[in-house]
Amino acid sequence: MTVYIQHTNIYRINDYSNHLKALPDEDRYSRFGYRISDYNIDQLILTMCYHPKDHELWYASTGDKRVGWGHMAKNTDGSWELAVSVDHEYQRQGIGDKLITEMLAWAKFHTIPEVYMHCIEDNKVIQHLAVKHDLKTKSRGDGERTAALEVPESNVFEANAQLWKEHNEIMTEFARLRKRYKELWSNAMLPKSLL
Ligand SMILES: CC(C)(COP(=O)(O)OP(=O)(O)OC[C@H]1O[C@@H](n2cnc3c(N)ncnc32)[C@H](O)[C@@H]1OP(=O)(O)O)[C@@H](O)C(=O)NCCC(=O)NCCS
Repeated sequence: MTVYIQHTNIYRINDYSNHLKALPDEDRYSRFGYRISDYNIDQLILTMCYHPKDHELWYASTGDKRVGWGHMAKNTDGSWELAVSVDHEYQRQGIGDKLITEMLAWAKFHTIPEVYMHCIEDNKVIQHLAVKHDLKTKSRGDGERTAALEVPESNVFEANAQLWKEHNEIMTEFARLRKRYKELWSNAMLPKSLL
């Protein structure tokens, strides 16, 4: 199975919301640390819409299907909280690992000083992935651990790879806007009343 990771923005927020709402109860609990309701997910989505610059999204796809999401949210102290979730039937196939790799590459390139993640004590998989990606985990004493990383700078190869990735994202966005621009002018040139 080939999995692609794509950085995205709030254009895809509806898909992200649907993904979160489709998570089974145990995954919702380990993702959020409590039994989040659909209503609370809607509140989260609304907050993201009000503050789009403080949220970054990534999705993992296999063909046309989006099967996992990464979300980074900026705090007032400049640190970013990182969270990932993978559709239940696609877990343990390396997708969470790939999402975290992409998210940290973005954080390095954008000189984010620190990222952290909340993990419940029972969630050994995310703790394993945190350690694998150099996040230091620390018990909070309330059934949760915090995994944090002071983000190192990208080296020249990492910076170059990220630069081209984001260059391509911007080119795709340009192509979308150019299409819209052409449609605008073709409508203006040919008003229906003159056809
Ligand atoms: C946590 C989650 C995102 C992981 O995604 P995933 O795609 O299943 O994870 P991956 O397949 O990429 O990686 C799993 C890793 O855990 C390891 N692992 C599996 N079972 C394990 C266990 N019981 N204890 C420790 N490590 C374990 C695997 O060997 C693999 O490690 P490797 O990459 O070194 O081989 C996914 O399980 C999920 O969506 N859970 C619900 C939401 C959640 O808990 N999010 C995290 C809080 S933000």
